[in-house]
Amino acid sequence: MVVTVLGASGRTGRHLVRSLVRQGHSVRAGVRNGRRREAVAGLGATPVVADLCVDPDELVDAFTGSDVVINVAGAADPDPAAVALVDRDGAIAGVRAAERAAVRRYIQLSAQFADAPDQGDRLVRSILYAKQISDNVLVRSSLVWTVVRAGTLTDEPATNRVSVAGHLGAGRVSRQDVAAVLSACLREPRTENRGFDVHTGPLPVAAALAALD
Ligand SMILES: NC(=O)c1ccc[n+]([C@@H]2O[C@H](COP(=O)([O-])OP(=O)(O)OC[C@H]3O[C@@H](n4cnc5c(N)ncnc54)[C@H](OP(=O)(O)O)[C@@H]3O)[C@@H](O)[C@H]2O)c1
Repeated sequence: MVVTVLGASGRTGRHLVRSLVRQGHSVRAGVRNGRRREAVAGLGATPVVADLCVDPDELVDAFTGSDVVINVAGAADPDPAAVALVDRDGAIAGVRAAERAAVRRYIQLSAQFADAPDQGDRLVRSILYAKQISDNVLVRSSLVWTVVRAGTLTDEPATNRVSVAGHLGAGRVSRQDVAAVLSACLREPRTENRGFDVHTGPLPVAAALAALD
């Protein structure tokens, strides 16, 4: 499949690109501008400029010919204005551009409690509300959708073992394991048109996704 990754230069993004390339996909690594191409060099992907906050037509061009878009971009700055720009409006722009580019499937990396922000940590509520809004736009779009709500991200090594379920509460998961889940979604039809939480857990990634009810 041709897969475009938004936020490919980020910590989860780089793991995800590597995982997708290993699985034999043709990967376009979305970067905010030409100066960020270097951040995805050597990963085996083709860099494409795809800034969620600039020109929707540029996004459509970047997506055209893709079977799948996976959005793992996020604001670097937790300031609510930056979060609204990237995680809400930017993420919505990504969904709309994918519809215009006739992409079939769209996978969004979201956060635990984005489906119930009032229950999440007060310190990250602006992020949760922003993600709730953009997740809901994706769910109501014409795309085949998946929303993966990760627990607190860590840089611990991959375990390739996770728990996935509609709601898991608070927990943690490594960026490498999240990347493994996102790429495994392409092989598991049960993940289509579904949102779920993911934490580190007992089951191998493929088995965990296959057991989603
Ligand atoms: N931290 C947590 O505990 C946690 C928990 C659950 C979910 N999440 C979410 O998981 C995702 C990945 O997190 P991470 O820590 O791996 O991210 P990260 O390392 O901070 O990387 C973020 C990526 O987003 C890109 N980006 C920023 N603004 C953009 C824009 N306007 N257009 C396109 N790309 C843009 C960045 O590009 P540059 O490299 O050019 O800056 C970078 O590639 C984020 O959405 C985050 O909110 C985080």
